[in-house]
Parts: sequence; structure tokens; C-alpha cells
Amino acid sequence: MELRIEKTTQPKKRPTDQEMAGIRFGSTFTDHMLLIGYKKGLGWHNGRIVPYGPLSLDPASTCLHYGQLIFEGMKAYKISGGGIVLFRPDQNMARMNKSCERMCMPPINEDETLDAIAKLVEVDEAWVPSVPGTSLYVRPFILADEAFLGVHPSNSYLFATILSPVGAYFKEGLAPVRIYVEDNYVRAVRGGTGYAKCAGNYAASLKSQEEAEKAGYSQVLWLDGVERKYIEEVGGMNIFFVIDGEVVTPELNGSILPGVTRKSVIELVKSWGMPMSERKISIEDLAEAYKSGHAQEALCTGTAAVISPIGELKWGDTVMRFNDGKIGEVSQKLYDEITGIQTCAREDKFGWVYRVK
Ligand code: COI
Repeated sequence: MELRIEKTTQPKKRPTDQEMAGIRFGSTFTDHMLLIGYKKGLGWHNGRIVPYGPLSLDPASTCLHYGQLIFEGMKAYKISGGGIVLFRPDQNMARMNKSCERMCMPPINEDETLDAIAKLVEVDEAWVPSVPGTSLYVRPFILADEAFLGVHPSNSYLFATILSPVGAYFKEGLAPVRIYVEDNYVRAVRGGTGYAKCAGNYAASLKSQEEAEKAGYSQVLWLDGVERKYIEEVGGMNIFFVIDGEVVTPELNGSILPGVTRKSVIELVKSWGMPMSERKISIEDLAEAYKSGHAQEALCTGTAAVISPIGELKWGDTVMRFNDGKIGEVSQKLYDEITGIQTCAREDKFGWVYRVK
């Protein structure tokens, strides 16, 4: 696919690296965006990198009414020597196609789309921050833009990618966060869209997230939508525990998002020769393990949050405090290794790093 590039004539004032480290996650955007159109019969076409700005959409666009909209999240890092890399973007492209399939959207060409995203990152390379803990967050998304009010898959789509320099996702940074177990609302059910990265899953989580914040928590932990018994995931992240020296995470069951950081953590832990299991974990069993002193650490994983230790997990009257409110040994080791690989400061034994330039 040909890619037209139209550079802005009015570049924004780029924040300094120090300012970028302090800005609120996802609130500042670069100078350009990538757009690719889709029409039934024509396929993906008209790829272009253009100045960042508002999209023009017909008010009858199906995404605005029925939520046919999916997205991805990945990060670009500046490495020493000035190069720029992305972390496992092939995984995001593959997951995007799984989301497309679930939401009746046309598949993207993974390689061509990744090339176009890499080109966008290169065009806005000055925006990739280099202070430790910072990166350029890459947000690809696809929306249905056919003007049609019938409930039916759209015949036309827009793929877009925007870029946002970011520091830590949580205001706490790497300090442990407080989370409560949601036992009223549910995020997803088996057979639903939980495994797809579609906008509706996040809309469904907002009410609960708002209540959690009001109560002084950063996020909620979702239980399964049927029995409300098994641990699924946290807000925009997957969850892991260290129980008796074994690293444990809920198995993928169709309602949990298959996170790229989740997958990387599992692969790393196995490569270290540590016991690692993906299985059903009930909240009762976790509380039991905690009370009997067998649960050592709890942590969240995600592209935005990387590794985020959980200091406190509240389930009704049970308050589980992990590792004296400090980051645990396994969480720290995972954080150091993953961020080390992401920034090319550590050896990339698995071939996870994709060179933009
Ligand atoms: C990410 O981690 O990239 C996500 O998409 C989660 C989102 C809630 C920021």
C-alpha cells in the first residue's frame, strides 16, 4: 500500500523530556497521525500520514451508534545511540485482527499496517522521549464510518493511529496501587467480547472505575461474569500473583484480554525456571492463601502500566496487603527485565524488539 506523507507546517511546541515524564497519561499528542480508509470492494486504501487534527465523520457513522470500534496500544522507545524500537508490535497487529474478527470488521494486512505505523513513529521521532520510565504510546484504532442506522456491520472503515508521549500510567509510578474487587458490576461474560480490544468493554468498566476512584482505589479487579467467583483482570491490565513461590495468572477463557505484557511475563518467568501456571483462581482461594501467609505478591501487567505492583486488594471486609506495601522481588525483577529489553539496555533473547530506525 502506498503511503502519502503530508508534513505539518505548524509543528506544536514539543514538551521537554522532563515535562513529558510528568504529563498525565495520554493527554498530549504529536504532530501527525496515520489514516487508512476501507471500502467494501476496494479494501484498505488511501494510506496517509497527515497533520494531527480532528476527524470528519458523518453523524450517522455506525461506530457512533453501535460501537463498532476497536483499538490497540503499544510503545516506542528511544534507545541509546538514538535508534527507536517498538515492543512486540507483531502481537498487537495479530490481536487487532482477532478483535476485527469478533467485531465483524475487515482484517488488516499486519505487515503493511505495522510498516505504516513505524513510518508514523519515524515522522514524529522527535516526540519519542528518552528519560527513564517514558515512551511514546502508540494508539492504533479502527472505527466503522458508514452512514447507516441499521444494526449491521459497516461497509466502510477508518484505520487511524495517534501517538502520545507518556510517563507512568498510574500517578503512583512503580509504587504499589490499591485495588478493590468488584462484586456488583461485571465487565465481560463468556461468549461476549471480553477477549477483543473493543471500545465497549472499556465503556462498560467506567461506572465501576469511577466508584473505585471515589473510594480511594486506582482500579477494580473483575471477577467472572457468571459465578462472580473467579479472578479475571484489572481495569486495563492483566493480573498475576506469587503464591508459594509460584507465579500464577488466570487462564484465558474468552472474557479476559490476552495482554502482550501478560504473554511476555509468562514467557520470561518460564525462561527463568520459576514455576508458572495459568489457571482458574477463585477469590476465596486467593484470600485463603493470603490469610495463611502463602500469597507473597500481586501485580498488574499491561502495555500502558508495564508492571504495576498491587499493595492492597480489598474484597468485601477482607483486606489483603502484599509485601508491606513495597514492590515485591518478582515484580521488580520483571519490571527491570521487561523495561530493560524494551529499551535495549538488556539482551533481547526472544527477538521481541522491532527496530523502527
Ligand atoms: C494498554 O495498556 O495499552 C491499554 O490499552 C489499556 C488502556 C486502559 C490504557
